[in-house]
Amino acid sequence: MTDTRFADLLERVMGLSAASIGPGAIERAVDARRRETGLRDGDAYWALLQASSAEVQQLIEAVVVPETWFFRNPQAFRAMERDVLGPRLRADPQAGARLLSLPCSTGEEAYTMAMALMEGGIEPHRFSIEAVDISQHAIDMARAGCYGRNSFRGHELAFRDRYFDARPHGWAVRDEVRAPVRFAQGNIFAPGFMAQAGGFDVIFCRNMLIYFDIPRQKQAIAVLRRLLAPDGTLFVGHSEAGLMRAEGFVSAGMAMAFAFRRAPEAAALRAPAGPTATVAPPPRASLRAPVAKRPAALRVIERVRPTCPETTRSIAKTLDLAALRRMADDGRVEEAERGAQTYIRENGASPDALLLLGLISDAAGQGKAAAHYYRKVLYLDPGNVEALGHLALLLRREGDHAGARLIDERMRRQDGRRN
Ligand SMILES: C[S@@+](CC[C@H](N)C(=O)[O-])C[C@H]1O[C@@H](n2cnc3c(N)ncnc32)[C@H](O)[C@@H]1O
Repeated sequence: MTDTRFADLLERVMGLSAASIGPGAIERAVDARRRETGLRDGDAYWALLQASSAEVQQLIEAVVVPETWFFRNPQAFRAMERDVLGPRLRADPQAGARLLSLPCSTGEEAYTMAMALMEGGIEPHRFSIEAVDISQHAIDMARAGCYGRNSFRGHELAFRDRYFDARPHGWAVRDEVRAPVRFAQGNIFAPGFMAQAGGFDVIFCRNMLIYFDIPRQKQAIAVLRRLLAPDGTLFVGHSEAGLMRAEGFVSAGMAMAFAFRRAPEAAALRAPAGPTATVAPPPRASLRAPVAKRPAALRVIERVRPTCPETTRSIAKTLDLAALRRMADDGRVEEAERGAQTYIRENGASPDALLLLGLISDAAGQGKAAAHYYRKVLYLDPGNVEALGHLALLLRREGDHAGARLIDERMRRQDGRRN
């Protein structure tokens, strides 16, 4: 019989889904800790874990995946400065901003947030960055602020000369970048986690939710929702974007930044702004399917009754794909779906239209169809980061971890090329 005690404990304490880190990873970590503590067998080590919260922390340290680097997915940092905080802080010299990096791992993400704002001419005293991670070891490294080559990936490294001092064994973050950043150890699932905090204008929560199973993802997202200011922006990892949509967030519309905002209460009932406003919304009564029949993933993206083919045809002609995507985000899923199909019929296969069809199928819980569309996108555009991210998340959700890892690998190569 397989011994699941250790995996169950880690799931309970830190939300870790054993499947997400591959078979054998927990077993290896337990074995390493058992040997380190000089204990004879698994039962003795289990007894130690029951008696010592310090040892539980040591086991957590042994299983976390602290992979991170400066300006990882640079589009997110640029969008945060250019489209979110920069305009607000430049318009009002008295205004300040509060940011959160959770999980911050060894600190690269939090320091990058500071550098990105400073690159936009915003002085460090105008903002504060809280940075939290469950790993005490990672937090100690973040506070030390000295980094080796692995933290600087890609070719655009000019920032290193501006914000770091060369040391014999790496590069040390300069004081002006450190000043606005405060690190703390913390577990997003701990009772009362950041209970006194909240109202963050910007939260980066990237590449952590992928390690949780669906109920824990929902729990973590509820915490993020509490911590985010009503008009705040939440940045997630590329593989986590589909999840945010399913959890009732709406895209902030920043290309490749994977940025989301809370959905306005009645988002599904509002007519979209811009060109789509000319399309008459269906009668209110037809907007909502009976609650009990709606799939869980569609709690926010409500289905609408199909419109007549002529209406759809004219929508596809007059709206561009971005508008179709906004339409889907606003809950007019069936119209957007028909629009995208008509668009493809009239203009030929397009990665953007296929991606939209993939997202719609994904949100409706039609995994097979979604994977089919994502793969079609990748056939036409092999480096499409959004399709790669969604496909990896989908495969992981469906238990194809080997497939997901292959896509992750492709994604990493793509990230490297972009950096
Ligand atoms: C892959 S790193 C992501 C770092 C950074 N956000 C990025 O995208 O580059 C994942 C981090 O999540 C942290 N983590 C895992 N479970 C956590 C939890 N329950 N609470 C807080 N941090 C957690 C790990 O310690 C690890 O440092």
